[in-house]
Amino acid sequence: MLDSHSDDEAAVSGNSFLQDVLHGLSQTQPEIPCKYLYDELGSELFEAIGRTDEYYVTRADLALHRTHLQAIADCIGEQAHIIEFGSGAGIKIRLILNAARNPRAYTPIEISLEALQSSVETLQRDFPTLEIEPVNADYTRDIPDEILDLQPPAKRRIVYFPGSTISNFSGAQAEAFLGRMQRMIGPTGGLLIGVDLIKSESILEAAYDDAAGVTAAFNLNLLTRIQNELGARLQPDDFRHEARYNRDCQRIEMHLVALRDTRIEVAGRHFDFQAGQSIHTENSHKYSIDSFSRLAHAADLSIVQTWTDPQGLFSMHYLEPVSS
Ligand code: TRP
Repeated sequence: MLDSHSDDEAAVSGNSFLQDVLHGLSQTQPEIPCKYLYDELGSELFEAIGRTDEYYVTRADLALHRTHLQAIADCIGEQAHIIEFGSGAGIKIRLILNAARNPRAYTPIEISLEALQSSVETLQRDFPTLEIEPVNADYTRDIPDEILDLQPPAKRRIVYFPGSTISNFSGAQAEAFLGRMQRMIGPTGGLLIGVDLIKSESILEAAYDDAAGVTAAFNLNLLTRIQNELGARLQPDDFRHEARYNRDCQRIEMHLVALRDTRIEVAGRHFDFQAGQSIHTENSHKYSIDSFSRLAHAADLSIVQTWTDPQGLFSMHYLEPVSS
């Protein structure tokens, strides 16, 4: 198992939560980086969002895989090194590994060592002859190329990134991220990426604000973390979850909206909120096939094939470097 974490990063992470909260709450539109939504409880709630009736993304992504598996396998080709961003223990990676022709190896890149180990264990049991080369790292950072080298080499690299996680990046971040994937796959490789599609506001807003309140609990958990981990004084009950579609930016925004005038005190500083003011906590950008194609081109990638689920809610693109 390869590890590209540095000890320093781990040591400052407690403080950077505080710094990021202080900095974010000082903005004209207060905000907190979305990565802080994912503590242990947050990650459990996030999994539960995938099971709500309103959150169509998980089901549509799976239906897309089932419907187009052979075409996807054709794009992957023979003896590919399949590199997944995030660790897949679930149904989708199983479908992919089953359909791929003689995959040379499978590499999940995952920041949580625990999640990585458990998914590798489960997959290795079910695919005993598959070479699995896990990497414990943050895939949003540079991964040294040697870490991915295989002996003997694979025919080509395929980066697999389902689930529309790209949606949670800003346009500039998404472009930079696609650029890094483009360099990672090299001139002969390919990229399979899931992208959620623009659709009616009512479907989108319901998906990010389910009736059972799971997404609300996920968002509000951030305030509990700030209270517990940073010793802040605040009233979680003074805030409510809101999912709003921002049409100009083509994205769902998650906010924590103050229900009444309230104050957050943290590390000797205070931040006053008037009723209706909000803390912006996450974005989920939606794309048309055209708008995603433009983004890909900015990173020297071009769409070779696009699939959607039978209901046309979600898309997956197979991309190759422009110059190949
Ligand atoms: N990337 C997925 C999406 O944007 C999953 C996701 C990320 C999500 N953050 C979320 C889903 C917050 C619901 C709420 O849809």
